[in-house]
Amino acid sequence: MTQPAFHRIDGTFYVEGVSATDLAAQFGTPLYVYSRAALTAAWHAYADACAGRRASIHVAVKANSNLAVLNLFARLGAGFDIVSGGELARVLAAGGKAENVVFSGVGKTAHDMRTALEASVKCFNVESIPELDRLNAVAGALGKKAPVSLRVNPDVDPKTHPYISTGLKANKFGVAFDDARATYRAAAAMPHLDVVGIDCHIGSQITEIAPYLDAIDKLLELVDQIEADGVKIHHIDVGGGLGIRYNDETPPEIGAFVRTVLDRIEARGATDGTVREVFFEPGRSLVGNAGVLLTRVEFLKPGAEKNFAIVDAAMNDLARPAMYDAYHAIEPVVERAAPAQTYDVVGPVCESGDWLGRARTLAIEPDDLLAIRSAGAYGFVMSSNYNTRPRAAEVMVDGTRVHVARERETVAQLLAGERILPD
Ligand code: LLP
Repeated sequence: MTQPAFHRIDGTFYVEGVSATDLAAQFGTPLYVYSRAALTAAWHAYADACAGRRASIHVAVKANSNLAVLNLFARLGAGFDIVSGGELARVLAAGGKAENVVFSGVGKTAHDMRTALEASVKCFNVESIPELDRLNAVAGALGKKAPVSLRVNPDVDPKTHPYISTGLKANKFGVAFDDARATYRAAAAMPHLDVVGIDCHIGSQITEIAPYLDAIDKLLELVDQIEADGVKIHHIDVGGGLGIRYNDETPPEIGAFVRTVLDRIEARGATDGTVREVFFEPGRSLVGNAGVLLTRVEFLKPGAEKNFAIVDAAMNDLARPAMYDAYHAIEPVVERAAPAQTYDVVGPVCESGDWLGRARTLAIEPDDLLAIRSAGAYGFVMSSNYNTRPRAAEVMVDGTRVHVARERETVAQLLAGERILPD
């Protein structure tokens, strides 16, 4: 990228070559806007660091499952990490290949397993004995063998928000570390399963490499034990989770993270003569800072204790602040010379938890546009229709071109599947 994907020209916020003012005028607000250049650059940060190594990247679909976004990654050669049959359908509709798909998730239904087996996905990341039993039965009924990897819970602290830590003993995810060896033996004995790898995922928005290395060391220890039991481990899936900068976080650079992880695993492989393939499942770090949410100020409302900027986006459009107390930078699209005031930026939904930013210093007037940054990951995908609010439109900017990646939902679409009572 010659210039940053998000930048200002004469004080106006631009996404690549298109001003946010024009985007809002053409497509309305709230509006998710993604930069193709930023998505591509984040992909290359991973792919370039993996070049020439035995490593592959599976984009975590849950972070942003828009078909245009998935299609871009598929064109770039990505694999995908899915957690539902719905996500598999998206990957296939976006031009991704099932043979490059890993299927994660703690509660896979028999129906979803069947669909994924029929499509021939690369691997199921399985999290419990009952899930192994179910997969074995479903595969047997189809006359197939399911490739499996066990998601092991390494019990390491990723030092992130409790709702997004997943690799602690107390979390619902994975097979407990101490049970893993026996679970591998059980899996290896099931006739319709083919044990191929080992998997972990310790959390999300992780801003240090150390917890990963701790988890990897524990996994490698386990690999020795599993292989001593006669089960060959062909790949190690280190999950996703690398954090991004929302405010003042200082996560490691993607390339450095990838190289450190690969070096650690390869160093061990060198001692036992095997170079195992490494899978990454990044979500947030690929898409988070490649998207913004544009919103318009409806009213400025001075309160007894605080000033509120009431905007047309809400917790149903971007749930992260309400759900995780998450910080997203908020900037006026057009800079004003007027004196700034401190506002809570809030939506129109009838909940006090409906806020997007607290105590922000902004020079704004009613009708001004705001850009909510770092909204590309877990933004639109977590949106809902609460308060019967149609979901926002999504567009992808590519230079001076704009592609409508998802049309704005209508109220008619929201009502379409519902029926009033019969007479
Ligand atoms: N693989 C698995 C098995 C996962 O569960 C996740 C995310 C990922 C990969 C991708 O992790 P990432 O690279 O995006 O951190 N809604 C929350 C984040 C939930 C993450 C859940 N798992 C948020 O908005 O912060």
